Amino acid sequence: MDGNRFDDRPADLVLLGPPGAGKGTQARILQERFGIVQLSTGDLLREAVAQGTPAGLAAKDVMAAGGLVSDEIVIAILRDRLAAPDCAAGVIFDGFPRTAVQAEALDALLADAGRGIVAAVSLEVDDAAMVARITGRSTCAGCGEGYHDDFKRPAVAGVCDRCGGTAFKRRADDTAETVSARLAAYHAQTAPLIDHYAGQGLLRRVDAMAPIDEVTAGMAAVVETALA
Ligand code: AP5
Repeated sequence: MDGNRFDDRPADLVLLGPPGAGKGTQARILQERFGIVQLSTGDLLREAVAQGTPAGLAAKDVMAAGGLVSDEIVIAILRDRLAAPDCAAGVIFDGFPRTAVQAEALDALLADAGRGIVAAVSLEVDDAAMVARITGRSTCAGCGEGYHDDFKRPAVAGVCDRCGGTAFKRRADDTAETVSARLAAYHAQTAPLIDHYAGQGLLRRVDAMAPIDEVTAGMAAVVETALA
């Protein structure tokens, strides 16, 4: 991917929302629709854990318990990924920043590159619905397409719509107990960033309790307006 649909300026967007709000689901759709790269720190950390890198070894137990990995580790991983050529046209930051320190680091990294966030979208949901969303989630082992036992089933049971794969996986931290810890971390450390972006005039709120395609429509309107 060598350019976004808007071409004349980098399209850097932040997605905020608790676990299960639909950040990954929407980021993947927007990536396809607008040519803006999805950058998920959760995915990068899971990759580091799977590869057994020093960052992965340090992150593994924290993630399993539903806590936040240290700012130092996450910012280093983010910085490396952001330097890749495919990120030059713009990035959907999915799950980053999650603390005030990370938000400041992101502002500085983008400013150094002569770019900046064009909108921070808060996916607004009820916590009570998030446990069901997360414990019902699965992912195609082949292409990473996301599914849900009730809300997003493949057209043919057991077969991925996108790649035809038949192996699906579930995340180790998608248990009801861990979700509670992840929600608590979100409210204590990440929700305050809503004010950070509101103060910069960048905050946009989208009702993420609606069906997936309606949420996408709301997100697409934000992107179109921000980059018009
Ligand atoms: P991460 O991977 O970022 O997980 P998360 O924030 O907990 O978010 P999820 O991936 O669980 O949810 P989502 O909002 O993407 O929802 P999804 O689209 O899948 O982080 C994991 C861990 O890594 C953290 O706990 C932490 O330890 C560490 N970490 C990561 N980043 C970090 C950082 N910056 N700093 C420190 N630590 C960090 O949707 C969920 C399900 O619901 C799916 O099945 C989907 O199909 C379904 N669904 C989606 N939208 C809808 C809808 N509108 N209606 C019905 N169902 C829907």
